[in-house]
Amino acid sequence: MTEIIDGNAVASEIRDDLTDAIETLADAGSRPGLATVLMGDDPASQTYVNMKQRDCEEVGIESHHVDVDGDAPPEELYDAIADLNDDSEVHGYIVQAPVPDHVDYRDVIRRVDPIKDVDGFHPENVGRLVAGDARFRPCTPHGVQKLLESANIDTEGKDVTIVGRSDIVGKPLANLLIQKSDDGNATVTVCHSRTDDLAAKTRNADIVVAAAGVPELVDGSMLEDGTVVIDVGVNRVDADTDKGYELVGDVEFESAKEKASAITPVPGGVGPMTRAMLLYNTVKAASLQED
Ligand code: GUN
Repeated sequence: MTEIIDGNAVASEIRDDLTDAIETLADAGSRPGLATVLMGDDPASQTYVNMKQRDCEEVGIESHHVDVDGDAPPEELYDAIADLNDDSEVHGYIVQAPVPDHVDYRDVIRRVDPIKDVDGFHPENVGRLVAGDARFRPCTPHGVQKLLESANIDTEGKDVTIVGRSDIVGKPLANLLIQKSDDGNATVTVCHSRTDDLAAKTRNADIVVAAAGVPELVDGSMLEDGTVVIDVGVNRVDADTDKGYELVGDVEFESAKEKASAITPVPGGVGPMTRAMLLYNTVKAASLQED
């Protein structure tokens, strides 16, 4: 039987654990605060930001939101960031990606105070992670690690193939999984759009993490029996539904399920975990900034 790994259930447990820590911080006069910054009006980003605010409410984190006009000069976004850096009620914040084309996301990230960088994207935090001394693990890779742990899947000595080399998922996850640690010690292959014979790499894996942003890129024919399949993809594809689209992962679920020993669904797999780990990082940020 293939185990369907329930990200909603694991995320809910994590939120419950965080609630106590949040109340302890609040009692000490430092209720954690998270801000989201959205430049432009990308509908998917708006949905994500709304969900993050709802999550905060549920666990007792104070949520703040800043909208920046999509046509504004980059300086307007930089000013918003400077304000958040100075705001003692905001312990962590994220600038939702993608930003409009006339803004370089790297220039944005460098302006975020690293101690408030709950995405873990600032070069200082990336460097610390690579050096094995992470301050904030990026939310999606951390969520993937927690999902594996919840399903009792040990990564030590395993061959892990990551499909996708993004700064947000593929690269940090590869770095975390190769580390000498209880949730690392794996042998990692990172694949991308120029990889030759992708199927050979996924067939060689004990664990496949699909994070390429390509709908249903990985299917059952690319997997050996017994593979653990983690699907990070969230792709909106046109469909005859009320919303006019449906969410599809980077894995072709039905055929992959036939081969997998365990698999995450989309939605309800990695997505809720990413959101839970953002709350986790916010609590950590508040703890680090406690007087
Ligand atoms: N856009 C897609 N994923 C993310 C994320 O983890 N953080 C931010 N800031 N933007 C995103």
